[in-house]
Amino acid sequence: MSLRKVTASAPGKVTLFGEHAVVYGEPALVTSIGRRVYVTAELRDDNRVKIVASDLQVPGVTVTFADDELVVETDYGRTLSAIAYLKTAIEVASKYLGRSRGVNVFVRSEMPVGAGLGTSAAVTVATVLAYTTALGYELDKREIAKLSWEVEKTVQGVASPMDTSITTFGGVIKVRLLGSNNYEVREILRCCDLPIVIGYVEREAKTKDLILKVRGLKERYAGIVEDIIKTIGMVVEEAEKALLNNDLNSLGELMNINQGLLDALGVSNKRLNDLIYAARAAGALGSKVTGAGGGGCVIALAPGTQERVEVAMKLSGGLTMKTSLGGLGAVVHTAESSTP
Ligand code: PMV
Repeated sequence: MSLRKVTASAPGKVTLFGEHAVVYGEPALVTSIGRRVYVTAELRDDNRVKIVASDLQVPGVTVTFADDELVVETDYGRTLSAIAYLKTAIEVASKYLGRSRGVNVFVRSEMPVGAGLGTSAAVTVATVLAYTTALGYELDKREIAKLSWEVEKTVQGVASPMDTSITTFGGVIKVRLLGSNNYEVREILRCCDLPIVIGYVEREAKTKDLILKVRGLKERYAGIVEDIIKTIGMVVEEAEKALLNNDLNSLGELMNINQGLLDALGVSNKRLNDLIYAARAAGALGSKVTGAGGGGCVIALAPGTQERVEVAMKLSGGLTMKTSLGGLGAVVHTAESSTP
C-alpha cells in the first residue's frame, strides 16, 4: 500500500582515513556525524516531481520537472548539484522498483552543501528511503546503499561507495571497493567519542575534478602514485587498530602521515594546509583533510585542546563546526497513510 507522505533523514560524514585511495580499492575508515539531511516525499496524483529545497544553506529554490524538462529559478551551482542527486535518486529508485509516481520532495539540511561532509550522499540516501517507503516498499539497508551509490556514480561519473554506505549505515565503518559494482562494509564502532574539531574553508574544486586530478597523476606517474595509494591503505589498517585500542597518539600520527600522502596526491591546498598546521601548533595530535580536498573540510584530533584548536583554525581563516561522531544512519521518521 502506498503512503501519502514520508520523512526520512540521513547523516553527514567525515572520512577519518583513506579518502581518494578508496577509489582504487584500498580501505577507508569513515564515521557518520550528528548533522543530518531531512527529506520528505509526498506522493502526487500526477507524474510530476516538485523539489522544494528551502534550507540547503544557500537561498531557497523551487524546481519543477516532468518528462525531462527541468524548470529552475536560480543559478546557484551547489543547489543545482544537490537537485541533480534528488532527481536521479527518484529515477534510479523508480527503475529499480519498476514503478514510478509523481512526488513533492522537501529537503532540509543541517549542514552546508558541498563542504565535503557528504551532503550529496545524505540527500540521495534520504530521498531513496523516503520515496521507496512512500511507494509502500521496505528496502533493506544494503539495497538503499547500493541504489544510492548508483545515483552518485550517475551524477558524478565516478564515486566510491564510501559516502553512500556511511550515510546509510551510520556508526564508524570500514569500506572497501571489491570491483566496479561490488564492495564490502564492516562496522568498526557504533559510537565514537573521538575529540575531533572540524574546520572548513571554501571549496575551490568539485569532488569529481579532484578524483580526475588524482587519476591524471596516476596515469603520468603510475608506479609512484600506486605506491602512495597502497601506503594510504596501510595507514588505514594501522588506524583501525589504533582506533579500537583508543590509542590517540598513534591516531594523531597516522592522520599526519595520511595528510602528507594526500598532499602528495595534490588534493590539499594552502588554505587547508594553513588550518592543518595551525591546529597542530595549537596542540592537536594530528590533522588532515577530510573528503575530496580542494578546500572543504579538515579534521583535527585534539584531546583537551579542542577550544584552542578551534580558535587557531578560525584565526587561520576557517569556520569550525561542533558535532558528535558515529550513531544513527538513515532512518524513517514519519509516515502518513493515504487512507484516513
Ligand atoms: O567529496 P567528499 O568529501 O564526499 O569526498 C569524496 C571522497 C573521495 O574518496 C575523494 C571520493 C569517493 O567517492 O570516495
